[in-house]
Amino acid sequence: MSKPGIAPLSGKGAVALTREPASGVDAFLGDYLDVAGLAPGLDDAVRYALLGGGKRIRPTMAWWCGVACGAPGEATLPAGAAVELVHAFSLVHDDLPAMDDDDLRRGRQTLHVRSGEAMAILAGDAMLTLAFGALRHTPPGSDALPGDVVAALVDELVAGTTGMIDGQIYDTLGGLDESLDDTARLEAIHSRKTGALIRAACRMGAILGAHRARLDDAARDGAIARLSAYGEAVGLMFQIVDDLLDVESTREQVGKRTGKDADAGKLTYPGVHGVDRARGEAERLGEAAAAAVEPFGEAGKALRELAASLATRAR
Ligand code: IPE
Ligand code: IPE
Ligand code: MG
Ligand code: MG
Ligand code: MG
Repeated sequence: MSKPGIAPLSGKGAVALTREPASGVDAFLGDYLDVAGLAPGLDDAVRYALLGGGKRIRPTMAWWCGVACGAPGEATLPAGAAVELVHAFSLVHDDLPAMDDDDLRRGRQTLHVRSGEAMAILAGDAMLTLAFGALRHTPPGSDALPGDVVAALVDELVAGTTGMIDGQIYDTLGGLDESLDDTARLEAIHSRKTGALIRAACRMGAILGAHRARLDDAARDGAIARLSAYGEAVGLMFQIVDDLLDVESTREQVGKRTGKDADAGKLTYPGVHGVDRARGEAERLGEAAAAAVEPFGEAGKALRELAASLATRAR
């Protein structure tokens, strides 16, 4: 999964936790693109942005949320694929000159540098659209999902995606209530631009896991609530660590340019609270996430390990 020049995800057991979900979602996405039949230039651009060495953290969370519900992780692949398509779209647009203006992503050229701005914008449009289609994709040997399950997944994907875009608006254009202090602004931005999609990944994994494991309504709703709390804590933590990596890491380690947030005047955790407090907050949120899935017992073990490894990740 790791690309040349990018260090593997650090933290105890992290690579083992991501390997199976990552290869599962890559196969699902590849199969889906094979049948999607995009125009050749667009197909090439989408594959470059989508299949180019991401950590697959969101599909990994969906996978282990399904396992926490008692289902095989494979049952969550439509959710993982849909969320990863939205995530890849968000990165392509985040890197555009009108936004963060970045030329390096996942250790190689950003899509607009490689294929031009028009193609990058259109590939983003395509990935956002394909995300919803992924919920209806049935690879050979799998069954179509019932309509009520697809409808529930669509609701979550809409909430996660619009939440992410709201966060990108506040991050890039401002517009938050003037009365909020920096701490409240940071949480408002980070819980949306990164947290909303991670929360959606967890909730969608839970919906599919509960469906496959045939949980009754009460058990399903309890599981979704716990996994949602997990996703909220990990989601906020994930962006705090991303901010820390921008300050403390090298581009060889993370595969993207670092030291950019302060120059761009971004509101970040280390910028507002300092590196030590930011790191402490990431650890606290990792522990809160682990506590939220304690009631799953052994079935929630992978999620607890994932939260701990993400709090200290090096890429
Ligand atoms: C980067 O996300 C952007 C954020 C939301 C912090 P990831 O760190 O998950 O990026 P990839 O998919 O592994 O490249
Ligand atoms: C990205 O935040 C959040 C998105 C929704 C893409 P950043 O702008 O900090 O992500 P990187 O550092 O470019 O990956
Ligand atoms: Mg950005
Ligand atoms: Mg950026
Ligand atoms: Mg960043």
